[in-house]
Amino acid sequence: MRIDLRSDTITQPTPAMREAMARAEVGDDVFGDDPTVARLEAHVSEFLGKEAAVFTPSGTMANQLALRAHTEPGDEILVDANAHIYYYESGAPAALAGVMCRCLPGVRGVFTAADVEAVLRPADQHFAPTKLVCIENTHNRGGGSVWPLQRIHEVAEVSRARGLRLHLDGARLWNAAVATGIPERDYAAHFDSVSVCFSKGLGAPIGSALCGTREFIQRARRFRKMYGGGMRQAGILAAGALHALEHHRARLAEDHANARALAEGLSRLPGIDLDPASVQTNIVLMHVTKLPAATLVGALDQAGVRVLATGPDAIRAVTNLMVSSQQIDAALEIFERILGNIR
Ligand SMILES: Cc1ncc(COP(=O)(O)O)c(C=O)c1O
Repeated sequence: MRIDLRSDTITQPTPAMREAMARAEVGDDVFGDDPTVARLEAHVSEFLGKEAAVFTPSGTMANQLALRAHTEPGDEILVDANAHIYYYESGAPAALAGVMCRCLPGVRGVFTAADVEAVLRPADQHFAPTKLVCIENTHNRGGGSVWPLQRIHEVAEVSRARGLRLHLDGARLWNAAVATGIPERDYAAHFDSVSVCFSKGLGAPIGSALCGTREFIQRARRFRKMYGGGMRQAGILAAGALHALEHHRARLAEDHANARALAEGLSRLPGIDLDPASVQTNIVLMHVTKLPAATLVGALDQAGVRVLATGPDAIRAVTNLMVSSQQIDAALEIFERILGNIR
């Protein structure tokens, strides 16, 4: 038995999802002919309280379309130093949008209105014009941390007062909503654009969406084509995403409970440094004190538990649709056995 906690992107489509995908009505979506993609775009934009949406092959593309559509080359964007957009998107802000990233010192990915104000500069020919503030909720490298709605409100207020736009990387916005009970659209209301992923906790095999005004999405659509993201009979994928939204969103609470149980169990083990209270959603970050993270990851892998080393002494485990609470118990036993053998 393998217990795969590397990411929530490792999920396999369920038989019911495959069935929905197989039955999907499709057409050439670049011609605007795919009824299932159209249904997904209408559904997700309505769900988030936005005018329009565009379906994309990945969260990275959705974020990068947002950057490109909100800015011009040479502009500056403000982003947390550990944000996916900056940290994990292969240098795309520089390569594709041609923007400068000004990194803010978030705590577990969450920065303050004062952090934004501290870096804003007056209009002057010496300075790159600052155009966009990006927020990631939940925050991946922050350990699945949830942005408090009040904090978003404060950041949005100072940003708007200075004429900045706001983009939400909501790859795991569903997790934030399920964890807090605050609807996705209440978070989305503070932003000009929102990206969401169907292929993380929701368990669809492929697909994300970018939402915003009709005019903004029309501009993003042109860049999607330019970036090679215009897909043809993509309704097969959109059907998986629609199925995921309908059937897998509420169950994210199970992933959160599993993550908490895992964190509580791990926090009691020797050689693991972890505060279970820091676990808000489905991501568990821990520090390893007695051996290199890579050594522990290798030993766990041999024993059937897969996790990721995210630094020399750091490990990440992510609960997901493929992992039951019994498997969390089994994973904890394996951790305990391996760590018990270290002297
Ligand atoms: C917060 C966040 N945003 C965006 C992405 C990018 O998604 P994709 O892997 O589909 O490009 C990820 C992927 O893990 C993520 O964690």
